[in-house]
Amino acid sequence: MRSATGDHDPGSAWTEVDEYLVQTLLPEDEVLELVLDENQAAGLPAIDVSPLQGALLSLLVRMTGARRVLEIGTLGGFSTIHLARALPAGGRVVTCEHEPRHAEVARRNLDRAGVADVVDVRVGAALDTLPQLEAEGGDPFDLVFIDADKPNNPRYLEWALRLTRPGSLIVGDNVVRGGLVAEEASTDRTVTGTRSFLEALGEDPRLEVTALQTVGSKGWDGFALALVR
Ligand code: DHB
Ligand code: MG
Repeated sequence: MRSATGDHDPGSAWTEVDEYLVQTLLPEDEVLELVLDENQAAGLPAIDVSPLQGALLSLLVRMTGARRVLEIGTLGGFSTIHLARALPAGGRVVTCEHEPRHAEVARRNLDRAGVADVVDVRVGAALDTLPQLEAEGGDPFDLVFIDADKPNNPRYLEWALRLTRPGSLIVGDNVVRGGLVAEEASTDRTVTGTRSFLEALGEDPRLEVTALQTVGSKGWDGFALALVR
């Protein structure tokens, strides 16, 4: 909010603009509002993607024509619903969640949103589930959204590359973390994991990449985008 002197708290201005954009651009969505209420009631951390970011995920699924989507980090299923709603007929989201309690909340939310039949929630460490997916020998994933524990991001990227095909899109959440990512000397494992993830993206000749910084109701953060060549 701007004060009379023109000073403002960027955090609150970012949230104010996010609210304006949500009101102006997005339809009222009682199911998504209910999902956030349910997540809060169940004590889940409020670290879902924002509504505008969720709409970006939906657009990315539609723009790429993705039929098979892999999500690493379900939480309460808020992003999963955005991914699932954008699927074409016959499409599927496989989503990995470490916490059984989160997965249970997510399954109820997916049911409420009417997408439970197109989403496969896999409970357990994603680093156990990802090799299982490979062993199952399904078609490659067209889009992968990495949004779980940040220290494992470099390993999730390796698995994303094994489970995709040329033309697939890999999206990583939270690559800026309020600017902490630029701290070379950081010993915070979420920061070092993110930096290793970004370095791997930058070095891999199989990928065409970028990252975008974002501000809004979730503060200052960013997404990495990588197209498999
Ligand atoms: C955290 C994790 C996220 O995926 C996110 O989008 C925001 C915050 C966290 O663990 O703090
Ligand atoms: Mg995230």
